Amino acid sequence: MPKGNYQLPSFKDAKIRTREAVKIEHTLFKLPEPTKNLGVGRKFYLRTYGCQANERDSETIVGILTAMGFTQTDQEEDADFILLNTCAIRKNAEDKVLGELGMLKKLKTNNPDLLFGLCGCMAQEEEIVQLLLKKYPQVDLIFGTHNIHRLPELLYQTMMSKERTVEVYSKEGEVIENLPVKRFGQHKAWVNIMYGCDKFCTYCIVPYTRGKERSRLMDDILVEIQELKDQGYKEVTLLGQNVNAYGKDLGLEAGFAHLLDEVAKIGIPRVRFTTSHPWDFSNDMIDVIAKHDNIMPAIHLPVQSGNSDMLKIMGRRYTSEEYKALYDRIIAKIPNCTFSTDIIVGFPNETEEQFQDTLDMVDYCKYDLAYTFIYSAREGTPAAKMVDNVPMDVKSERLQRLNEKIGLYSNMNNQKYLNKEVKVLVDGLSKRNDQVFSGYSEENKLINFTGKNIHEGDIVRVKIVDVKSWSLNGEAIEE
Ligand code: 5AD
Ligand code: SF4
Repeated sequence: MPKGNYQLPSFKDAKIRTREAVKIEHTLFKLPEPTKNLGVGRKFYLRTYGCQANERDSETIVGILTAMGFTQTDQEEDADFILLNTCAIRKNAEDKVLGELGMLKKLKTNNPDLLFGLCGCMAQEEEIVQLLLKKYPQVDLIFGTHNIHRLPELLYQTMMSKERTVEVYSKEGEVIENLPVKRFGQHKAWVNIMYGCDKFCTYCIVPYTRGKERSRLMDDILVEIQELKDQGYKEVTLLGQNVNAYGKDLGLEAGFAHLLDEVAKIGIPRVRFTTSHPWDFSNDMIDVIAKHDNIMPAIHLPVQSGNSDMLKIMGRRYTSEEYKALYDRIIAKIPNCTFSTDIIVGFPNETEEQFQDTLDMVDYCKYDLAYTFIYSAREGTPAAKMVDNVPMDVKSERLQRLNEKIGLYSNMNNQKYLNKEVKVLVDGLSKRNDQVFSGYSEENKLINFTGKNIHEGDIVRVKIVDVKSWSLNGEAIEE
């Protein structure tokens, strides 16, 4: 192994789950003395891949680097430190990062002092770290999802030793409060309510890369949201791999329903949450969502497959009938609720009949939006050991058929809004047209609209005048 400091990941350790209480660290964050001005006069470039958990982690990373005196640049060529916060959910996510590392390599020829870092879920994978060590000498620093708070020391060590540093913990993890944060949005904020996942769906790498399900204390979450409200934030999204499990590790009964109720009472205009697992979506939760106008009627409810045998092999803990019954219960109490979902096609040995059940599920739930994926084998997960008899062209063709159906329902659902009024939280000018504003309705529909005296962060009443498959066009209603 080349010279350097190494603590490598291990999936064997990462999957251990004990009953030990999670450590919740409240100590105020302090930069160790030698790292304090390390970034003064230096610039960093950060690129984030993957899900909202990574986005939120990147806000902490920017907070830490800014505290060290670094400034952020959006030009790779200007940077002294380039960091990629990576995603491991599917192989194509990893390939993108590896490709990017190849492209960025040439920057080192012009600037030999340039440092490359890689963090996030790929850093937690044994195989990837081995590959990086062997084939990507341009990467100077690798750290994982459990030790973001160690970034100052790790950067210092890498810079001073001029050797490679790899520090990845493969453990259940803890909850570390009070890390610096530079929020990327001024009106919408992500709020972690829990970390990790204990579901171990057979295809999924997340329980190995992000540790065990562990909740933040309710008081810590409520204080953070009150502060966000005081700062003028209009929307918070409560984040967790499976938010329904909130509080179980703290011994709380109906933890998420209670938390959601308390968050809504703070009175921030919009509350969203993601992701919900259909298995433990309680009736209490439905009641709380129905009760509060500021909990948005848009639920992301990953189904993965519409076939009960397939769901069983996936380790999802619900049947197709149970999922439909949950959908019915939600719609009965929250009639204006929109639904989005995640679907995997081409799971090992999925038959045409089983895939038909997934299409039937889409007919039943008429999703507003669905993220659809071809199954990707993840080394170390149980599904990766299954012998698969479904050829790739069959999988691609199923994905296409599925997407066509999803598009139909998206369009059909959007038609319902024609000539109706929606409330839009304004994100800013539309990317395509600087005469047009864009934002999201309460139901999480993307709305492009015209109007006068509109500002980012306003909540505006908009009349829908035109309907597209994936968005709605409207005109602001003058007050
Ligand atoms: N292959 C394809 N899709 C996957 N997902 C998770 N793991 C895999 C995998 N191995 C999808 C699931 C999940 C979403 C975040 O990513 O649909 O809900
Ligand atoms: Fe992965 Fe399943 Fe956990 Fe979601 S619930 S993160 S799909 S293991």
